[in-house]
Amino acid sequence: MATVYSIHETLQKHSIKLLAGILAAVSVGGIVEIAPLFLIENTIEKVEGMRPYTPLELAGRNIYLREGCYLCHSQQIRPFRDEVERYGPYSLAAESMYDHPFQWGSKRTGPDLARVGAKYSDDWQVRHLADPRSLVPESVMPAYSFLLTSPLDGSDIAAHLKALRVTGVPYTDDQIAAAAADFTAQASPDGAGAEFEARWKKAVSRDFDGNPAQVTEMDALVAYLQMLGTLVDFPKIRPDADFNR
Ligand code: HEC
Repeated sequence: MATVYSIHETLQKHSIKLLAGILAAVSVGGIVEIAPLFLIENTIEKVEGMRPYTPLELAGRNIYLREGCYLCHSQQIRPFRDEVERYGPYSLAAESMYDHPFQWGSKRTGPDLARVGAKYSDDWQVRHLADPRSLVPESVMPAYSFLLTSPLDGSDIAAHLKALRVTGVPYTDDQIAAAAADFTAQASPDGAGAEFEARWKKAVSRDFDGNPAQVTEMDALVAYLQMLGTLVDFPKIRPDADFNR
């Protein structure tokens, strides 16, 4: 007991020693919490099914950013009962690990879009984007009908893939070399073929905007929306979770 009191007494009487003691105590907590974040590979739990965006989905994502959809829509389902009941399994860190920048967002004028993929038909998405009030009369979402008449080509998409690779997205040489061709192929009404499907797991290819004659910005945006939240097979990785009901 005597030593404890004498340490206490020393600390109380010498402000510099007290300060050093405080710093030592606080830094233990700091190191435990902060250091693992520098090893980001360890912080994100690996999840089966995640892959980087296909060239067409990436182009759609770029349009999503350009149009500021994130100003009204979040892409992060929080682990609360009401959110899980409404939107589905809460978002995992790994689901946005290839997003630069991430689209979690903090504003929900419209619903969360993290799992909107495959919720509606392509036709619904196209009509809703072109004229939201034709489907949801009380909607305050702007109309984006010009996307239907804005052609898009994949000539610069390989450069986008390369730039993302610099930030750590694991695009392969093969995926980059085939980017421009895969871009057009994914919007083809006949499907993109076996090579495309091997390069991009679980990617769907079809004519998204109802106009098979050309690839438009609408094709890209709908391809992106239709894949959101569809890559991870939740019943498989969380068989016991009650959101699988
Ligand atoms: C001014 C805010 C606002 C902006 C900007 C906006 N939205 Fe919306 N969005 C809404 C609202 C409100 C709803 C709910 C009513 C409705 O369905 O139209 C909605 C609904 C949606 C839905 C249906 C979601 C569901 O689960 O029913 C999708 C998909 C969607 N928006 C996509 C987009 C995309 C893509 C963009 C950008 C091109 C965008 N929104 C821009 C407000 C907005």
